[in-house]
Amino acid sequence: MNIFHSIEGYGDWYSEVNLKNMSVGFVPTMGALHKGHLSLIEASKRDNDYTVCSIFVNPTQFNDKADYQKYPRTVDDDIEVLEKQCCDVLFAPATDEMHPANRQDNQNARINLGQISEVMEGEFRPGHFDGVVTIVAKLFDIIKPNKAYFGQKDFQQLAVIRCMVEELKIPVGIIGCPTVREDDGLALSSRNLLLSPAQRSEAPTIYQSLLKSKEKLRQQNVNQIKQGLIDEINKSASLDVEYVEIADSHSLQPIDSWGSAESVVCCVAVHAGDVRLIDNIMLYN
Ligand code: PAJ
Repeated sequence: MNIFHSIEGYGDWYSEVNLKNMSVGFVPTMGALHKGHLSLIEASKRDNDYTVCSIFVNPTQFNDKADYQKYPRTVDDDIEVLEKQCCDVLFAPATDEMHPANRQDNQNARINLGQISEVMEGEFRPGHFDGVVTIVAKLFDIIKPNKAYFGQKDFQQLAVIRCMVEELKIPVGIIGCPTVREDDGLALSSRNLLLSPAQRSEAPTIYQSLLKSKEKLRQQNVNQIKQGLIDEINKSASLDVEYVEIADSHSLQPIDSWGSAESVVCCVAVHAGDVRLIDNIMLYN
């Protein structure tokens, strides 16, 4: 696997490899790689001649400094995993390669993402999506992929990225991939590494509660489903719901009655101590 830490190094590789009629698939990550990330690499390898993965813990998308500092960093293990997966290129820049120090205090350029970025994660993590779209746009510009792969686990992020490429007319195909879960239903996440044994044993309640809600659609209205979910998850001593939202899966705008959208998703954010976990389920489409 080729490993580049500089934009220039990657650029040299990109111009040297004869990419005429060859396609590049791209999987942006923040590292601490798990099977969820690897499923994106597999999808990219199936579709493309070359697969590039990036690892960059992007400071501008963390609205909480402590969360940024404690984010797991396991680069040596990640490299081993990527080698095994036969990933072609790893792009792992240092922070000042992506955010030059003399410009670090500047506001992120704002891209008009409309209402999609203002609900849920947008409301509870102010500035988060500005940080995400800025870094992903920069990475697309550097890597020049034909297609890029994102997980449905971060349902709103996927919608925001789709909106960004449309708004900026970026010629990259955005491919959404299904959420990979542990056997007990917990969605794989780099943050799971930070859970205590007690938190880890209760965390599967999140997805189990989402599944139960889906079964109750015919008997209950939107508010009853939301409240039921909050109560069910909060019953676990280590879990504390931040939000539950039921929304149109395209616009991500909250709905208040069944039938007011053709396709509906339920998204949750839950605190397990200091660790913030998100998950979602398609209720119908
Ligand atoms: P990170 O959290 O490392 O996730 C990288 C990619 O892996 C995202 O597209 C995410 O949705 C996907 N992913 C995470 N857990 C998954 C799971 N259990 N199943 C399937 N896919 C999963 O998301 C980010 O990094 C950053 O915001 C980034 C896009 C890299 C920008 O900095």
